[in-house]
Formats: sequence, structure tokens, C-alpha cells
Amino acid sequence: MLCQLFLKPKDEVILPQFSFLMYRIYAKIVGAKVVFAKEKNFKVSVSEIIKKVSNKTKIVFLANPNNPTGTYLNSFELTDLRKRLRKNILLVVDDAYAEYMQNRDYKSGLDLFKNKQNVFILRTFSKIYGLSSLRIGWGYGSKKIIDALNVIKPPFNVNEVAQKAAIESLKDKKFISRSVKHNHIYATKLKNFLSNYDISSNKVSANFLLLNFNKCKLRANSFYEKLKKKGIILRSTEEGYKIKNMLRLTIGSKEENMKFIKATQNIFRK
Ligand SMILES: Cc1ncc(COP(=O)(O)O)c(C=O)c1O
Repeated sequence: MLCQLFLKPKDEVILPQFSFLMYRIYAKIVGAKVVFAKEKNFKVSVSEIIKKVSNKTKIVFLANPNNPTGTYLNSFELTDLRKRLRKNILLVVDDAYAEYMQNRDYKSGLDLFKNKQNVFILRTFSKIYGLSSLRIGWGYGSKKIIDALNVIKPPFNVNEVAQKAAIESLKDKKFISRSVKHNHIYATKLKNFLSNYDISSNKVSANFLLLNFNKCKLRANSFYEKLKKKGIILRSTEEGYKIKNMLRLTIGSKEENMKFIKATQNIFRK
């Protein structure tokens, strides 16, 4: 809806090179030109974004942390980005994984950009709240933008079952804090475990790790196929994201994580 509202054909949208796939899809649907800003070691670069700004730039999209890289801009870098962008460019900060973040140098978009006219924050019930199939999320932005979004919002929007479930899920604080703890413990455990096989990954952040196989004796594709035969599917990043020799691993339940550890031990024992 933000793309529909802000973009005409030939307007430009800046996306970091490896950002979440949906932004380029929604921008292209309305005919906008997608301009990619290079990343450094799979991390968003503020200066590379600034280099790509033109007089046609209307929106900069950013997932923080980003899927699938798991990297993030710290609070200083994110506020610096806003300061260096022209005032009439909308900065969209997708806080999809904010609740998982335990990193001290991190602040969510919502924490950093209260009452800003030119920042829009996206939040979702698909991640920590576990309601992905219900298709419910929310946004925070200026009254002017919200009013305009309400004009273009179709009357048949978020369904009532999803709204009720979302409200109930907000009350379940124990589930949230348990999930955050669980995720941090297992992400750290899996990251350390995989380093035994020379599979490196990003610093623990959201509920997934981007695994790098460049120093490992197996290629990412081969590990992917071997795991698949054992009923475990990781996310390949080669086609959509054009990230070679890496895989995204989502942190699962205790049983799923243990199954993954056992399967990996068996694969490397051979
Ligand atoms: C960064 C990011 N934003 C948004 C989403 C999707 O959120 P929703 O299910 O609310 O559309 C995802 C999920 O894959 C994501 O990784």
C-alpha cells in the first residue's frame, strides 16, 4: 500500500542489495524503478544508499535486521541514515524481527523514530507472535500518511479472525519472553555447533542464521540436498537473493533443533 500511495512509474526506490524480496516485488508492481545499494559483508551500507539517491528517489526500504542476512544497522547508523537522506524521501523501516533482538547496540525503528513525518515503521504478527498464515501486521507513521493509506485501503482488508487472534497474542507475554529466550539460546548453540564444521554465520540477531560454507568441506547445495533427504529443509539463497554458497537456517523448537544437530553430525561423519 505504501508503494501504491507514494510511487508513480519511473519513480525510484532504493533497496540494499540483499534486502527482503517483497520490497522489489511491490515496487515493480506499480512500475517504479528499483535501485540496489551495495552491501559490505552482507550488511547494509548507509554511504552506499546515499550514493544511490537521485531526484527521482521516493522511498528507501530497509528491514532491520534483514532477512536473509541477519545483519542490522545499529541505532547510530539507522538515525544517521535518516539524517543523510533528503527530507522528502520516505524511509520505511521493517521491524519484522525487532522483538527477537537482544543486541545492545540495536534499537527498533519504532523506538528511534517516534512522531517522524518521513519514516514509516512496519510490524508483523508473523514472527514472534507465530501467526504468519493469518496475514496480519500493522504500521506506524504520520497521521497524514495513515489517513492517505485509509483512502486506498480496500474495504476487505485484514479479516476478523486474524484481528482477534492478534489481540489475544499480545496478552500472552509469557509466550513472547519464553520464545525470545529460547531463540537466543538455540541460535547461539547452533552457531557454535556449526563452527565445528567451518560453517560460519552472522552474529546472533533474529530467529535465523545465514550460514556461510566458503570454508566448509561441503558446498551449501550439497548440505541442502543431504538434509532434505532427512526431512529438513533450509532456505536456499541462490536464486532469489543471488547469494552463493550460503543457506538460511531458521531456529526451530528444541526437538527440531536437536534433529538438525543429529542430521548434521551424521552428514559430516561420512
Ligand atoms: C523482513 C520481513 N518483513 C516482512 C515479512 C513478512 O511479514 P508478513 O507475514 O507480515 O507479510 C518477512 C517474512 O518473511 C520478513 O522477513
